[in-house]
Amino acid sequence: MSDLIIDDLTVEYDAGGYTVRPLDGFSTTVQDGSLAVLLGPSGCGKTTLLSCLGGILTPTSGSIRYGHIEVAGLQGAALTAYRQRDVGIVFQSFNLVPSLTAVGNVMAPLRAAGMSSTAARTRAVELLEHVGLGERLGHRPSEMSGGQQQRVSLARALAHDPPIIIADEPTASLDYVQVEGVLRLLRDLAAPGRVVVVATHDDRLLPLADQIIEMVPRFHEESSAPISSELAPGEVLFTQGSRGNRIFVIESGSIDIVREGADGWAHPLATLGPNEYFGEMGPLFGLPRSATARAGSETVVVGYTPEQFRQHMGAERLTDLIRHEERNDENTL
Ligand SMILES: Nc1ncnc2c1ncn2[C@@H]1O[C@H](COP(=O)(O)OP(=O)(O)O)[C@@H](O)[C@H]1O
Ligand SMILES: [Mg+2]
Repeated sequence: MSDLIIDDLTVEYDAGGYTVRPLDGFSTTVQDGSLAVLLGPSGCGKTTLLSCLGGILTPTSGSIRYGHIEVAGLQGAALTAYRQRDVGIVFQSFNLVPSLTAVGNVMAPLRAAGMSSTAARTRAVELLEHVGLGERLGHRPSEMSGGQQQRVSLARALAHDPPIIIADEPTASLDYVQVEGVLRLLRDLAAPGRVVVVATHDDRLLPLADQIIEMVPRFHEESSAPISSELAPGEVLFTQGSRGNRIFVIESGSIDIVREGADGWAHPLATLGPNEYFGEMGPLFGLPRSATARAGSETVVVGYTPEQFRQHMGAERLTDLIRHEERNDENTL
């Protein structure tokens, strides 16, 4: 029977030469038996926090205590044991093994921990009955609705009866009618001896929560000044799909903008030279980078936050730029 105590937690990511710090001295306590909801806009650090709680990401500093366990300091075998026994994770995308039946998916973590096939099967059936899927034991994920798949993933997270359950946007991939069962299960799981922490945009979870933890987006960096980077020919400044909050202006040299297609080929979109700018859509709209940027030669770029960029370029210029981007979506970054 323990509270989950998060104290002064800081996480820094290196995002192409500068530091993003979504969690900066974050502290909160989730009391034993309670359901806590992490609420906040995309990019505020919900997934980052859950990753730390789940032992998937080691924070830069700070502590996460649960009973005698210091989660932030776990390594090696102790970390593996924590992930296997102490924490159960439910993902938005379910993360089920498509070739396995519901029972097979729930058995997997039990077998991995060395349980006999017979015992694992008995336990899996019991868990699936508990989440209301007694009639779906032999179904594969493709034969189940999203709500049913999410309940299988909940049953799997419960395999070792872990005292900590974390769920990252568990209802985001479900349609309206499928959500209720999942929410009710999460609510029921929060009972003495366990804490449940859920990141969500789903308002329907709020009335069920014992605690609502509001998170605010932070874009704190090592340096708040524009950052100048020198790139060697071919050096990647940022990659498609990554996140970043800098807009770049080329001081000297050249930058190739390349779209990596689903076909595995890199399609050159543009080559930019001195005084040209790029990478504005990601930071302005919180989107992942839609292409990769790499130096075509010895290049110096200066990275600005959107606010600095407005000052540097003038607000009008930025409005023009966005209009331009709206018209010419192919070149957005
Ligand atoms: N691996 C990473 N590298 C660099 N930046 C990252 C990485 N993961 C997340 N971020 C950044 O950290 C911030 C918080 O992200 P995240 O925890 O996913 O937020 P949320 O789940 O609330 O949407 C965002 O600005 C995001 O772009
Ligand atoms: Mg997230």
